[in-house]
Amino acid sequence: MSKTECDIGVLGLGVMGRSFALNMADRGFRVGVYNRTEEKTVRFLEEQAGGRPIEAGSTLQAFAEILKRPRAVLIFVPAGAPVDETIDELIPLLDPGDLVVDCGNSHFKDTDRRNRMLAGKGLLFLGLGVSGGESGARTGPSLMPGGSGEAYRRIRSILEASAARVGGEPCVAYLGPGSAGHYVKMVHNGIEYGLMELIAESYDLLRRGLDLSVEQLASTYAKWNEGVLNSYLIEITARVLERKDEKTGRPLVELIADRARQKGTGRWTSMDALDLKTPVPTLDTAVTMRNLSDRREERETAARVLGPEAGAASCGGDREAFLPRLEQGLLAAMILAYAQGMSLLKQASRSYGYGLDMSAVTGVWRGGCIIRSALLEEIRGAFREEPDLANPLLSPALGRAVMKRRADLVKVVSTAAELGVPVPGFMSALAWFDALRSARLPANLIMAQRDYFGAHRYERVDEEGTFHTQWEA
Ligand code: 6PG
Repeated sequence: MSKTECDIGVLGLGVMGRSFALNMADRGFRVGVYNRTEEKTVRFLEEQAGGRPIEAGSTLQAFAEILKRPRAVLIFVPAGAPVDETIDELIPLLDPGDLVVDCGNSHFKDTDRRNRMLAGKGLLFLGLGVSGGESGARTGPSLMPGGSGEAYRRIRSILEASAARVGGEPCVAYLGPGSAGHYVKMVHNGIEYGLMELIAESYDLLRRGLDLSVEQLASTYAKWNEGVLNSYLIEITARVLERKDEKTGRPLVELIADRARQKGTGRWTSMDALDLKTPVPTLDTAVTMRNLSDRREERETAARVLGPEAGAASCGGDREAFLPRLEQGLLAAMILAYAQGMSLLKQASRSYGYGLDMSAVTGVWRGGCIIRSALLEEIRGAFREEPDLANPLLSPALGRAVMKRRADLVKVVSTAAELGVPVPGFMSALAWFDALRSARLPANLIMAQRDYFGAHRYERVDEEGTFHTQWEA
């Protein structure tokens, strides 16, 4: 291969970078690679790249030289300072018109800043959300590009060839200007947190509350994955529950410490939702529960002081009858978690000028990503019929789908409360749904209180204008 012909460059050979480099090479593209520590590059070439059209640069300069002009460089380094450092080192080696693509989970405000900075230097930039973990990157991820439309057109054929496919369509679409791609990926992760929390709560309810064995749980989730709950996260839950620890022979899940770590994308989703005044309580709860799980010593002390652990209580004696209700309640709560994330995307699209096409977003999420599920097809259908829906629940079909299962959701929440098993994700989903369909909420009392102590004034239901009452005689 001549030394000036790589179609695309991959900078950073961590798990995601090397998997995506192999993926693109398998689709017939010539890939130039570079990694700061050279041993990693050597190992990659020796152990994985063999026989594929992959060429490495031993220095960053050599890497820049083996790329076709105008260059396209995909950066796969951890979000935050490493992205800025990498871009700073790369800039002097690039020519005007070259393209830089940040493939990490970058904060959207960093993406906007980098976009402006690179545009000032005559360079193109894309913020590309990549979902699907290692195996997704290797065989077909879901790709969420945002930034310059011209930049997207330049690498569109490579991204389309390398993305997951559903019904022949690639799971990639240009989502909008600026940080649109990274924003959509952030909310994808916020929804991911919400769905994972709901599934974890259902597991806790069955295990601690109903005393089902891990083996029974594994077969329950495997069965659920064949039905309405069909999704990647339910599928891997069944697989996780099936796995036995090699050392002890016990279910591995029971030996894993109950401290949930986080890199930050779920928290960013909640923080921006607060800034945009868009309620996403189930996604917020998922972040809160990860934080609570991390305070293990505090929980252990509280458990000693405040009484026995929940568990082994009966569920009105009828576990068999409860399982299908939990299945339906979980479906309803999952619809509500997706709906919260999507209503945030709609608001962000208006506030930040992304011009998001929600059927394109849901189309990209149908395959390759962590939140892919049969449900997304229905949500996509709702946005196809009514692209301007502010919230997918306002579509009659989806609204009815939750309404039909509301009693199941209530049953899950009330059973859990009686058993003392915490299900704040389910509770928040139910409360959000009920609040949303309340034409009147008790904010009138809050407004009266504000006016009472601070003369903040209130509006009336029967008259235009703002009013103040002298509350104390
Ligand atoms: C994906 C995942 C991926 C990553 C998360 C984990 O879409 O492939 O979301 O991006 O696994 O960043 O996030 P936490 O560390 O915050 O759980």
